[in-house]
This record gives sequence, C-alpha cells and structure tokens, in this order.
Amino acid sequence: MNSKNKKHLVCSLDDLKKAEAFGTEIVIDGTTTACFLIYHENLVYSYLNSCPHTGINLDWTPNQFLNSDNEFIQCSTHGALFNIKDGLCLRGPCVGDRLQLIENEVFENNIYLIS
Ligand code: FES
Repeated sequence: MNSKNKKHLVCSLDDLKKAEAFGTEIVIDGTTTACFLIYHENLVYSYLNSCPHTGINLDWTPNQFLNSDNEFIQCSTHGALFNIKDGLCLRGPCVGDRLQLIENEVFENNIYLIS
C-alpha cells in the first residue's frame, strides 16, 4: 500500500515552541515509526528517531534531542552531533551520515508529518 502524502497531525505549533523538541510516533505503511520534531530559528524540523550509527532512538532520556547549548541534535548513546537544519552528522562515530528527514507542514497552527 502506498501511503505517500498521508498527513499525520502531531501537535500545535505553540506546543512545539514551548517544548523546543519532542518525540512522537506515526504509522507509516502499517508500521509504528518513531520520529521527533524540533523548533529552531522559527522553523520546524522533523526526522526519524533513529541514529545512523546503530539505528537506536536518539533520546535516551525521553524528548532530550538537543545538546546542552541547543545548537545541535545529539544522540545520547555515543554523543554524535547533527546539524538541526539538515541532519548531517558533524561529530561522533557516524560523521558524514544523516538523520532521515521527514517532511512536515504547518497549517493553522497545527503541525503535520507527511509520509
Ligand atoms: S548510537 Fe548514536 S552515536 Fe552511537
């Protein structure tokens, strides 16, 4: 079954602004898939919650996706750092790999993930 362009309502933009980052799950082609969202410099970024190093979730502590300066996405297992804007790993055991981007759309203060 092709579920391209299916929209998944996740939360309001206001909720993400308050939290800055949090994890969620959506169902893609019948499979529950962990994702996370970040609000950064007035934009919403969303990725699969899967580190390219081992495939594990990035947030050992739930919803802790950013480093202490909130400048980078950080994997809590081995500390890899990723660009917030494109998911590129800049430091750690998977340098040069990327987080998998998930499209999102903001409409009338609601955030949707697109699969
Ligand atoms: S599992 Fe993410 S850096 Fe190793």
